[in-house]
Amino acid sequence: SNPQPKKALDALQKVASNSSLEAETKWFTALAYLLDNDPKAAKKRKNEYVNSQKDAQLREQELIIQNQLNLENERNRIASEMHDDLGSGLTVIKYLIYEDDEKIFRIVVDPKNPDIILKAGLQGYMSKDGAPKVPAGKYTVKITKGKEEYTQDLVLKYDPSSIHSEEDRKVKDEKAMELYRMMELLADEVDKIDQLQSTSESIKGGLKDKKMLKKLQLNEYVKEIEDLRKILVVTTGDNYVGAAEPQLREKIANLYGQVLSYAGTNERGQTIQFSGNKEAVSPMESVLMAAAACSSIDVETLLKKMRQDVKTISVEIDGTRADAVPAVFTKMHLHYIITGDVKEEKAEKAVQMSMEQYCSVSLMLAKSVEITHSFETDRSQHHEHSTPIFATSSFVFDDAEHMRALFANEAEGNIYSRFTNPSVREFENKMAALEGGEDCIATATGMAAIFATFASLLSSGDHLLMSKAVFGSTFKINDDYLHKWGITYDYIDPLNIEQWTALVKPTTKLLYLETPSNPGLDVIDLEATSNFCKKHGILLIVDNCFATPYLQQPLAFGADISIHSATKYIDGQGRVMGGAIISNKKIIEQIYPFMKNAGPSMSPFNAWVLSKSLETLAIRMDRHCQNALQIATWLESNSQVAYVNYPFLPSNTQYEIAAKQMKAGGGMVSFELKGGIEAGRQLIDAREMISLSANLGDTRTIITHPASSTHSKLTPEERTAAGITDGLIRL
Ligand SMILES: Cc1ncc(COP(=O)(O)O)c(C=O)c1O
Repeated sequence: SNPQPKKALDALQKVASNSSLEAETKWFTALAYLLDNDPKAAKKRKNEYVNSQKDAQLREQELIIQNQLNLENERNRIASEMHDDLGSGLTVIKYLIYEDDEKIFRIVVDPKNPDIILKAGLQGYMSKDGAPKVPAGKYTVKITKGKEEYTQDLVLKYDPSSIHSEEDRKVKDEKAMELYRMMELLADEVDKIDQLQSTSESIKGGLKDKKMLKKLQLNEYVKEIEDLRKILVVTTGDNYVGAAEPQLREKIANLYGQVLSYAGTNERGQTIQFSGNKEAVSPMESVLMAAAACSSIDVETLLKKMRQDVKTISVEIDGTRADAVPAVFTKMHLHYIITGDVKEEKAEKAVQMSMEQYCSVSLMLAKSVEITHSFETDRSQHHEHSTPIFATSSFVFDDAEHMRALFANEAEGNIYSRFTNPSVREFENKMAALEGGEDCIATATGMAAIFATFASLLSSGDHLLMSKAVFGSTFKINDDYLHKWGITYDYIDPLNIEQWTALVKPTTKLLYLETPSNPGLDVIDLEATSNFCKKHGILLIVDNCFATPYLQQPLAFGADISIHSATKYIDGQGRVMGGAIISNKKIIEQIYPFMKNAGPSMSPFNAWVLSKSLETLAIRMDRHCQNALQIATWLESNSQVAYVNYPFLPSNTQYEIAAKQMKAGGGMVSFELKGGIEAGRQLIDAREMISLSANLGDTRTIITHPASSTHSKLTPEERTAAGITDGLIRL
């Protein structure tokens, strides 16, 4: 009814019939229907278009790949760089065609310049690096000028002045040519898109009725085309290939993944892309991904069976590989992040069941790889970024049966925060993961962790071996409590393992030590100690407070329990008290009833602070270690200092052991002043920036004098045995 759209319709149908894309054809036909005043048919076509548009991009890529596969028989125009190699006269060449299968160059000469035939050389050189995009070799040149045709041989050689070897050049040129062909195809596709775009624009210009325009969503279509164009090309202007070659290379590499790349295809024809140069997933990464995918399927299925509304499951996997080839995985840690309306205890159960019973990939790998796991559940309905604090003393039960089942240990869940609390549990899970243990119990203080462990694992008549070099209050537990309950103990010189056997009794249950020790910084060989303990059937407990799990993981060296005063580096900023016991599930189960009933539990607030602190543990420890080593080195050269204790000083007698079991020396330095106690007092009182305080592991430097503070309750003999002299300063 309107002559203008009628004209547009012709243009559209022309484009549509030329277009290789089914979706576009449909859309243009839809437009045509509408212009013919048949909105119903147009709407139907448009819906078809919208549906097919979803796949259009995919088909576009398939089309390019298909074209690429057909390349063998395809003619390829080559770049005008040939001109430089064949002599300046060739600028009059109109175009040059390289026929791959026949090795023929077809040169069409501008008839206005007859000289060209004479100047077409018999031989040419490839330029030094990239183009022209044909391999060296012998070619036939067919030169056409109007109706005349001349044939000559052309020998293309690699430029002898090139810095690349001939072999390299061959590979490079072949690859470059492949790439060039792809770019040509890409340019073709972009050209088609350009045509579609300009046609759409002209239709828009031709249509007067703006409302109709809107209805047709032509603008939206133009935008979709523009988006498609952005996927295919990164520059505007005519010379897509030249101007954007580096970006195109990258895009093409992404599209085809052809560089050092391998595809695995199963019998159903489904493919995974692998790569040896980070362009795609590496084969070893795919192993981790397979474990994550396999167990995610279990976790989702299990949680659904437990009637939990799972939204997403993400698994972060860390794989530690051996240093030497074949660099197999030695350790894997899977951390699950489960979102949705999922109860924490259900998530824990599902993850555990997957890891222990169902996940074929992990269970297969577990035969040679040490696999650990942890999890965290969803954000609350407020979608907070940082974990909230569950500041609640108790939890509500669904009904009488739920309450009964929880108390009877028939169901998992929180009852009362002295038993379990989600904030505390989060901290415990993180500590267990960091230490490489199966489980963790968080306690109110470091001393509570030590006491809870002794109280749970020792009975009247049992015997304990304890290093002479431990924290002052730890000694007091022996004297003031274990002693009155009929538990005996002997102190061992931590550096003299040969002397320990004589002290072992049939009743010896535990060996307790600190490494590095407070404050003498003795380093004890964990591997040798754990071998000793295994030989005598003794459990080894290591106070890992000074090293933190970032620098040292005692369980990896065979210890049974790692203990922390979280008050120190775990908090790291001198704010809250806390402790942690990390071990296997069996030992943790023996200690848990003491926690539940005696109650030295960690407060949810402290757990929240400590859990946040763990996020910066690595960074803080790295800096502590750098600073401490620098100070220790300086102190060692100071004439007023008698000696310096620092595990990573090369002069330290235990340096080799420290280097074997610790990542770095830690943040503590202790040293003896030549002037004894009086010099110590003077030093402490002369300080300007350093705090005089009874803590350690703070971001602010702290100095103390152990003999008159932390270890003052020991007898002078006990202090001497623990290496605490009167002039010892701890920094
Ligand atoms: C090595 C070591 N273990 C345990 C503790 C006790 O920890 P807390 O003070 O958190 O009870 C300390 C405290 O200084 C310590 O240095």
